[in-house]
Amino acid sequence: MNIVNTIEEVRDKVKSWRKEGSTIGLVTTMGYLHEGHESLIKRAVSENDKVVVSVFVNPTQFGPNEDLKTYPRDITRDGELCESAGASLIFNPEPSTMYYKDASTTINVKGLTEGLCGAKRPVHFGGVCLVVSKLFNIVTPDRAYFGEKDAQQLAVIKRMVRDLNFNIEIIGCPIIREADGLAKSSRNAYLSKDERKAAVVLSKSLECGKKALNSGERNADKVKKIIIQKLNSESLAKIDYVEIVDSLNLKPVSNIDGNILVAIAVYIGKIRLIDNFTFKI
Ligand code: PAF
Repeated sequence: MNIVNTIEEVRDKVKSWRKEGSTIGLVTTMGYLHEGHESLIKRAVSENDKVVVSVFVNPTQFGPNEDLKTYPRDITRDGELCESAGASLIFNPEPSTMYYKDASTTINVKGLTEGLCGAKRPVHFGGVCLVVSKLFNIVTPDRAYFGEKDAQQLAVIKRMVRDLNFNIEIIGCPIIREADGLAKSSRNAYLSKDERKAAVVLSKSLECGKKALNSGERNADKVKKIIIQKLNSESLAKIDYVEIVDSLNLKPVSNIDGNILVAIAVYIGKIRLIDNFTFKI
C-alpha cells in the first residue's frame, strides 16, 4: 500500500490523477480501521477513480481528559485493509505536519455542536471541523465519505461544507454492526470480555425505542423513557445521554414528526460508546 506522510506527496499524487482526468474520493479516519471504515472505502472505490484514506489521530478533537494517548493505532494493519478494499493512497501525517505551532484559525459550527456529544466534549467538533477542512484542502476530493454512526459529526460537516462553499459532495454511509448488533467502533477494542457482552445493550435499547415508534408512540419523552429503562437493565452501562432531535438542526423535539434522530451515548465501564437511528414520519 502506498503510504505517504507529507502534504507535498499527497498534492503531487492528486495533481497527476487530475491530469489523467480521474475523480477522487476521500475517507477520513483516525486509523485502527474496522469493517465500518472498510465499507466507506469500498463505497468510495465504487464511486471514484482514486481513493485517498487519511489515517490521523487528530489531537485537536480530544479534550484534556480523553484518550488521545491511548487511542489504538496500527498502521500496518490499516495498510492491509486499505489495500484489499482498493484504496489508492494512505495519508498518514504527523501532528507537526498537520498543525503549525502558532496556528490561530478555528472553525465553529454554531448551534449544531452544542447538544448531544458536543455538550460533554466542548472542543471536539471544533477539532473535527478544523482537521476535516484541512484534509479537504490538501486532498481536494470530489466526494468525501462519513459514517452515519457519528450522526452529529455528519450533520456538522454537511453544514460546514455548505457554509464554507467546499466544492465536495458529502456522502453518509450506513452503520456497520457486529452480529449481535453492536455498532463497529475502534473504541470497541478497549472493552473487556464482560463489557463487550454488556455493550450490546446500546443497540437493544434503540430497538426498543424503534419498536415504540413503529407502534405509533409520538411522545419523545415516552420513547426516551423506554430506551433508558432498557439501558438501566444493564449494570455495566451508565447513560451519558439519550436524546431525540430533529435530524437537520439537531434540536430536541417533544412531539415526534418529520425526520428525527434518536441518539445515545453510554459508558460501558470507562468506555464511552455511541449509537443512533433515524426515523421518518
Ligand atoms: O470520525 C472520525 O474518525 C474523526 O472524527 C475524523 C472525521 C477522521 C476527523 O478526525
